[in-house]
Amino acid sequence: MLSHKQVASGRREKFLPFALPSIGEEEIAEVVDSLRSGWITTGPKVKRFEEEFARYVGTEHAIAVNSCTSALHIALTALGIGQGDEVIVPTLTFCSTANVVVHRGARPVLVDCGDDFNVRPEDIEKAITPRTRAIVPVHYSGQACDVNAIYELARKHNLAVIEDAAHAVGSEYHDQKIGADHLGHGLDATHRVTCFSFYATKNLATGEGGMITTADPKLAEFMRLLSLHGMSKDAWKRYTGAGSWYYEVLAAGYKDNMTDIQAALGIHQLKRLDEFIERRAHYAKLYDEAFEDTPEIETPLVRSNRKHAWHLYVIKLSLERLAIDRSQFIDQLRARNIGTSVHFIPVHLHPHYKDRFGYQPGDLKNAEYVYDRILSLPLYPAMTEEDVQDVIGAVLDVISSNRR
Ligand SMILES: Cc1ncc(COP(=O)(O)O)c(C=O)c1O
Repeated sequence: MLSHKQVASGRREKFLPFALPSIGEEEIAEVVDSLRSGWITTGPKVKRFEEEFARYVGTEHAIAVNSCTSALHIALTALGIGQGDEVIVPTLTFCSTANVVVHRGARPVLVDCGDDFNVRPEDIEKAITPRTRAIVPVHYSGQACDVNAIYELARKHNLAVIEDAAHAVGSEYHDQKIGADHLGHGLDATHRVTCFSFYATKNLATGEGGMITTADPKLAEFMRLLSLHGMSKDAWKRYTGAGSWYYEVLAAGYKDNMTDIQAALGIHQLKRLDEFIERRAHYAKLYDEAFEDTPEIETPLVRSNRKHAWHLYVIKLSLERLAIDRSQFIDQLRARNIGTSVHFIPVHLHPHYKDRFGYQPGDLKNAEYVYDRILSLPLYPAMTEEDVQDVIGAVLDVISSNRR
């Protein structure tokens, strides 16, 4: 059935963007408060956001930074990963998961994905060599990967695990939040770091932003140091009445700190996060139900013992049943005023990774097969149920117009 915003052709009147943040009046007031306070960079709001985030995920230490990319880079640096080392990274991820390994002078060893688009422990195990130092699993779309099996491998081979939880703020694995200290039981806390993203499209958005969590106090202290030039503790307070002008540089750190303006958004986004995820889950269910009897589409595979954060709703096309390819499918949805996206172009297919590391098409077959068939539908709390029905209507319309 067409909603009132759809015209007879099945085309919405107004373009529905692939993603939009949900910024409320509380977020706006808190940002204005920061602007009026005169303190617009790292300060008390960052500290409060870190404390509240740590409580939310169940960790002792949370360090706010300016992106998940910075978080991953800091984690690799703090764990001493560099020249000559190998780091196992899924190929079906955003480029930054692998780029940061390259920044460290290490080699990203890219691995294939399974039916739920997450990395498979057996592929990780096959990729381990004497040079492997760390595994960077990505909780794709907000569904936790096989955390226990990955930790088990890390223990067995004495590797670090840096979780790329860019999609997984609020995700759970066996009733523990991703990033929680207890999740790592059995794997030494010095070998485990989790990195989150608060990029504009993410479940919790601060425009740009990220968070690092760890159960290890020393690692936390070092990563905090690295996030702000390697300057000694509380150097950020040097312009306050309570601070001192004197500081020491203890490491050649980076400029990756979060600002109070970002934290102002984060504090209120965090309060609404569970409600956001509930709405995402509700819309995901509407999609699942609508596409249940549509053999041209495979809906996301949901694993047991996990709470999915539903950052993305990724459908896989059965191209054998369609007269168009995935890109044409996207174009036809766009012509119906529906924005979509693709997550992701496998890293090993990007020119830099082919040229520098010798990857070639055909190397990671599942990811390539999946890449040709996937697209991500709009899924965010700022959508209305009517918007969801418009997406469903447009998808079904594209299918019925292009059956083979
Ligand atoms: C899987 C994954 N990892 C890392 C990142 C990088 O996050 P950020 O933009 O916060 O640096 C993204 C961003 O989209 C992502 O999707």
